[in-house]
Amino acid sequence: MSKILMVFGSETGNTENLAHLIEKRLADAGHSVTVENAASAKAENLAEGYDAVLLGASCWGDDSIELQADFDTFFAQADKMGLSGKKVAAFASGDQSYQYFCGAVDVVEEKAKELGAEIITEGLRIEGDGAGEDVAIGNYVSAVLAGL
Ligand SMILES: Cc1cc2nc3c(=O)[nH]c(=O)nc-3n(C[C@H](O)[C@H](O)[C@H](O)COP(=O)(O)O)c2cc1C
Repeated sequence: MSKILMVFGSETGNTENLAHLIEKRLADAGHSVTVENAASAKAENLAEGYDAVLLGASCWGDDSIELQADFDTFFAQADKMGLSGKKVAAFASGDQSYQYFCGAVDVVEEKAKELGAEIITEGLRIEGDGAGEDVAIGNYVSAVLAGL
C-alpha cells in the first residue's frame, strides 16, 4: 500500500470532482489517499511521509495560463512542500476552446521538476468534471500506480 497525497484547486467544482474520481480508483486499488483542497492546504512539509503527490487545478486565463486562485496561492509556496525526490503527477480540468487547454498541467510539471521531483506520468487533461472519462482516468491511475 502506498500513501498518496492529492491537492486540488477548483473554482466551480470540476477539478474537485475529478480529484475524487481519481481518489476512488486509487483507494479501490488499496492505497491510502489524502485529499486536500488548496483553499485550506498549508504547503509547509506537506509532502512529507507520502510516496507520491498528485497536484490538480483548473486555469482561468484567456491568452495566458492563470492557475485557479486557491491553487495559485498554495502553489506559490511549492518550494516549501518538500517535493525534492518525490514522485509527482499532475491533473487538470479545462475547456478545449481555450488556447492553453489544461495549462495547469504544464505549470505544475515544470515547477515540480525544477524542485527536484520525478514526474511519474504524463499529466491528465480532462474536459469538464470527469464524468464519462472513465477510460482516460483509469489509464492515468494505472500509469500513476506503475510509477510508484
Ligand atoms: C475566463 C475563463 C478563462 C478560462 N481559461 C481556461 C484556460 O486557459 N484553459 C482551459 O483549459 N480552461 C479554461 N477555462 C475553463 C475552466 O478552466 C474550466 O471550466 C474548468 O473545468 C473549471 O474547473 P474548476 O471548476 O475546477 O475550476 C476558462 C474559463 C473561463 C471562464
